[in-house]
Amino acid sequence: MNFHVMTLFPEMIEQAMSASITGRALQAGYLNLETVNIRDFSENKHNRVDDYPYGGGAGMVMQAGPVYHCYQDIMSRIAQKHAEQKTKVIYLTPQGTVFTQKMAEDYAKEDDLIFLCGHYEGIDERVLEEIVTDYVSIGDYVLTGGELPALVMMDTISRLVPGVLNNEASAETESFSGHLLEYPQYTRPSVWRGKEVPPVLLSGHHLNLQKWYREQSVIRTAQRRPDLLERADLTPEEWRLVRQVLGEESYE
Ligand code: ADE
Repeated sequence: MNFHVMTLFPEMIEQAMSASITGRALQAGYLNLETVNIRDFSENKHNRVDDYPYGGGAGMVMQAGPVYHCYQDIMSRIAQKHAEQKTKVIYLTPQGTVFTQKMAEDYAKEDDLIFLCGHYEGIDERVLEEIVTDYVSIGDYVLTGGELPALVMMDTISRLVPGVLNNEASAETESFSGHLLEYPQYTRPSVWRGKEVPPVLLSGHHLNLQKWYREQSVIRTAQRRPDLLERADLTPEEWRLVRQVLGEESYE
C-alpha cells in the first residue's frame, strides 16, 4: 500500500505514522508513505496558499493552484506505475460519507491512495471538482484540519494490509467483524484485586471457549452497541440472550 498525503503539516503525518505498528510496517516495506507539502506549490512570493473568500465571510480559503500542482506532482509518479487505474483521491471533510470498517476494507485493496488535507475554512471548490474522487468524514464533529482524519483512515486501512499485523487472525476476529463487538480479554494474574478471570478461560476446553467468546460478543454488543445487531447473523438462542440483556437493563 502506498499512501500519498497532500498537507500543510507533513511532520504531523510522518511523526504519527512512524510510531508503533504502522512505523514497523513502513520500515518493513509493507507500507509506503509520501507526504507532499502543499506550500511548496505556492504561487506567490510570501509562500501563501490561502486567500479571502469571494463573497466575504470569516476565515480564509485554500487556493486551487497549489493544491492542483501538488496533486499533479504526486500523479506524475503514480501514473508511471499503472496508468489505466484511476487512483482514489480522498478529501477529508465533515461533509463526506462517514468512514466505516467496510470502507477501510475496500480502500485496503488499492495500490495507491491520495489524501487531501484541508485547513482554514476549506478549499476552492473548483480544484475539488477537478481531482477529488471520495469525500470522507470520520464523524459528526469538526476538527481544525484533515490531518487527524487522514491518520485515522491510514491507521485503520494499514492493519488490513497483508503483513502489517504479524498475527493474521487478529484482523478478522476483532470488533465489527460479523457486526459484533469483541469479547473481553484477560491476562495474568488470574486474580486481581479479588476479581477472578472467568474460569472457562483457564479450562483449556476449546469448544466451551469458542461458545463463551461468541456469547460474550453477543452480550457486549447488546449492552454497548445494540444498533449493530440489526445486521448481525444470530441464532434464535442468541436473540433470546439479546432480549434477556436488553430486557433486564430496561428494568434497572
Ligand atoms: N475535517 C474537519 N473535520 C473533519 C471530520 N470530522 N472528518 C474529516 N475531515 C474533517
